[in-house]
Formats: sequence, C-alpha cells, structure tokens
Amino acid sequence: MITSTLKILSESDKEACEVVKVSEEELAAGKKRLFIESYGCQMNFSDSEIVAAVMRNADFATTSSEDMADVVFLNTCSIRDNAEQKVRNRLKHLNTLKKKRPGMIVGVLGCMAERLKTKLLEEEKIVDIVAGPDSYRDLPRLVEEAETGQKAVNVFLSREETYADISPIRLNSNGITAYISIMRGCDNMCSFCVVPYTRGRERSRDPFSVVREAQQLFDEGYREVTLLGQNVDSYKWKGTEATAENNDLPTMVNFAQLLEMVATISPDLRVRFSTSHPKDITDDVLWTMKKYENICKYIHLPAQSGNSRVLKIMNRTYDRDWYIQKIDRIREILGVDCGISTDMITGFCSETEEEHQDTLTLMEYVKYDYAYMFAYSERPGTPAAKKLKDDIAEDVKKRRLQEVIAVQLQHSSERNQLAVGKIHKVLVEGPSKRSDDFLCGRNDQNKVVVFPKENFKKGDYVQVLVTECSSATLIGHVVETV
Ligand code: SAH
Ligand code: SF4
Ligand code: F3S
Repeated sequence: MITSTLKILSESDKEACEVVKVSEEELAAGKKRLFIESYGCQMNFSDSEIVAAVMRNADFATTSSEDMADVVFLNTCSIRDNAEQKVRNRLKHLNTLKKKRPGMIVGVLGCMAERLKTKLLEEEKIVDIVAGPDSYRDLPRLVEEAETGQKAVNVFLSREETYADISPIRLNSNGITAYISIMRGCDNMCSFCVVPYTRGRERSRDPFSVVREAQQLFDEGYREVTLLGQNVDSYKWKGTEATAENNDLPTMVNFAQLLEMVATISPDLRVRFSTSHPKDITDDVLWTMKKYENICKYIHLPAQSGNSRVLKIMNRTYDRDWYIQKIDRIREILGVDCGISTDMITGFCSETEEEHQDTLTLMEYVKYDYAYMFAYSERPGTPAAKKLKDDIAEDVKKRRLQEVIAVQLQHSSERNQLAVGKIHKVLVEGPSKRSDDFLCGRNDQNKVVVFPKENFKKGDYVQVLVTECSSATLIGHVVETV
C-alpha cells in the first residue's frame, strides 16, 4: 500500500510534484529514509532519478517528509548566483532540523558540490557529504562514511560515466512523460557558463541503452520521452569492438540517427529533445523531425544575444546572421508552426544599449513561442570572470531584462493567438491545475492545452479545437480522439 510520496522542487520552486512512493512494507522493514530535493535544469532532475535508484539498491526508502528523513540530499545548481543562494537558504533551514535530530545526514549533490568541492564543507558546517555529478554510484559508501562522523567527499569527474545501466526511478513522473539523459557534460566553453566545470567533458551514452529505456517506458504506459543533454545535437557514439562484430548494429550513431531509432519504437511514443546548440543542429535532424509525426515540432534553440560582437565574446561560435539562417532553415523544412524557444542573457560584459537593442530586434524577427530570460550573473572561474569585466550595473541588467520579458510576453501571446481556431493533437497528461473537471496536456509545439475532461484520461491522444488562449495556455474542447 502506498503511504507517502517524495517531493521535488524546481529551481523556481514553482512545481512541487508528487513522486516516489514508499510502501508500508519498506517502512516496516526499518529501512533508512532518504529525502531528495532537486534544483536547476532538467538534467539535474533526471540525475535525481538515478540517485534514487542507486539509493534504493542500497536499501534506502524514499520519503516526502524531511522531518522523517535519515538522509537529506539537495541536488544543486550553480548556473547563477541566485541558484546557489537558494540552496544556502535551504541549508539554513535544515540546520534547525538537524539541531533537533543530530543524526540526520545532509548531502549536497550536483553542480554546486562540484564547483565548491571541500570549500562547501568549510562554508556550510551542516553539510556531511559533497558529491559531484559523476559520483552517484558512490553515494551509499559516502553515506556510510558520514555515519561514522566523518565528512565524505567525491567530486571526481569522469570521461566515461553515463549511468547507462541504471534504471532511473521516475521521481518527476506523471506516468506519461519521462526524461532520458542521452549525454553528459559539455565541451563548448561559452564564456559565461559554469557547466563545463561542474559537469565535465562531453560524453554520449550507448544508443542501445537509450532505445531500451524508451521501449521499457513505452511498455509501462509512458507516451512521451524527452532526450536530454546540454547540447544534444553534438551527440556522437562510436561503436565498440563488440558492437562492430555484430553487423546489424551501427558502429557510429549521431543525433539524427538516435532520434530516428527512438521515434521508430512506436508512432504512439512522442519524442522531444533539449537543448540544441545553434551551431550543431543539422538539416539531417530537421529532416528526421519532419519524417516522423511523433517527433514533436518544437526546438529549444538558445540564442543568448542578438548581437554578433556579444556572441563572439560569449564564445557562442555563431553570429546573428548565422543564427537567423538557422531559424529560416527550420521554418523552411518544418514550417512556421514549428515551436521555437530561446534563452537570453541581458547585461553581459560590455554590452551597449545598441547591442541590447539587437537582442530585441532578433526576438522581433524570430517571434519565439517561449523564452527563458536572465540577467548576467558572473560565475567564478569561467572565462568571462577571468578575462572580461562584469561592468553593466545591476539596475541596467534588470531594466534590459524587463524589456526582453515584455517583448517576449507579447510574442508568446501572438504565437498562441495563431493556435486559436485550429485543431491540435494533444497528449493528455492529467487533471488541469485549476479544476478537476478539466484535463491538461501539451500539443506538438509544447504548449499547454486545457479542455473539459469528459471521459478522457491521461495517456490518451485527443484532437482539441482551441477556442481561446492566454499568453501561457491554450483552451479548447475535444473534437475527436486519435
Ligand atoms: N546548454 C544550454 C544551456 C544550459 S544553461 C545551451 O547551451 O543553450 C541554461 C541557460 O542559463 C543558458 O542558456 C543561459 O541563458 C543561462 N546562463 C548560463 N550561464 C549564465 C550566467 N552566468 N548568467 C546568466 N545566465 C546564464
Ligand atoms: Fe553552458 Fe554553452 Fe555548454 Fe550550454 S553549450 S552548457 S551555455 S557551455
Ligand atoms: Fe544548473 Fe548544473 Fe543544470 S549548473 S543548469 S544544474 S547543469
């Protein structure tokens, strides 16, 4: 019988969702209890699912209540200063808890652990374990070490680790959609970014294990997988001698081929992916998307800036014109309905007002469906922190950010208006947040669609006629099932 659930928090603390179930039998068996909380990007949420699997294999149960936990893990993010501050505040709160229950072990996992290493132990006395993103197999041992009263640290970054053989426990799941990590690390060295330092070198996971995982999810009733990586389009797997011996198996697989392998599992399994770096997304990927109806027509293609000089000092390796050509190519091959989103940074080192205007005009050109927008936050140790001056005043960064947000709000609602009056294929994900009489799901372009429940249930594909919209949601009713 299910007695409790595990909660995870997104970086924005917006979505606390129900997750791993703990059975009464597990609790009765006197298992130690783990509470895990995730911050940051989808990769981190996906990693927490691997951590949960590793810990369950080591005979831990998971709990939704930090008050009941023997071990608390925070899977952390370092991308901006405020992401780290959030974790530090959380540690303060846990400190109060630990005073009441001194035996409780606190572990900091993920990017902040990797960035700060043992310094974190000096700065945050409450922390017992520091574990970087490639050390999760070692967590049970680290917990044992911490239980003896010693501080335990593993921040070794690997060139090979992909956790390919570990079946994640689906913490983030509604039972319909799931993440699959296909690669780890990043070799790109964008000058503002801490990820190459916290996640190490880029490596691609064995494609057959990816397909196996997707097939298994489909067999369990899942209907959508999102292939995850910092830069999925540079996915490249080279066969080993063992695979080369078997003539049926390819010896080299690129991202377009991997997409096809996953898309052919079933036409009823939707495939999404994130993130695409504009320099790497190829025509092959776009043609593969076009060829398979079940590969969603939505691309997250972060521009970061609309100005070529800024892009150069960001080390993004493309300029404004090149980015625009990519957008044109996407629309040529996949049509104007293909959803496109971006990430934008305002107030990067030495960015002038004119250069900031270029970001706004690029947005006008593309009219993104959605954007994640940030004020630049200098990260210690990155090329920008070493070589460039963080010289744009905070209030200027913030004002530029507000301008970018205002333009995007307008575009999101214009793009949503285009969806009104049309029929959209929607995969039902569950009840809508506002009312149990309504269901919600997403269309191909990743837009949330809300409609009256009738007799539909999660996992169904339905055709929804959209009749109205807000800047965030499409609203309509089902006209037929698929
Ligand atoms: N791999 C993805 C992005 C990962 S980080 C890509 O290349 O697009 C997610 C986003 O955080 C980035 O796209 C960027 O917009 C933002 N970001 C990264 N470092 C930042 C920093 N130092 N300050 C502000 N935003 C940052
Ligand atoms: Fe960071 Fe650039 Fe790698 Fe994205 S591609 S994770 S922004 S270094
Ligand atoms: Fe944050 Fe690490 Fe992801 S820094 S954005 S959790 S890769």
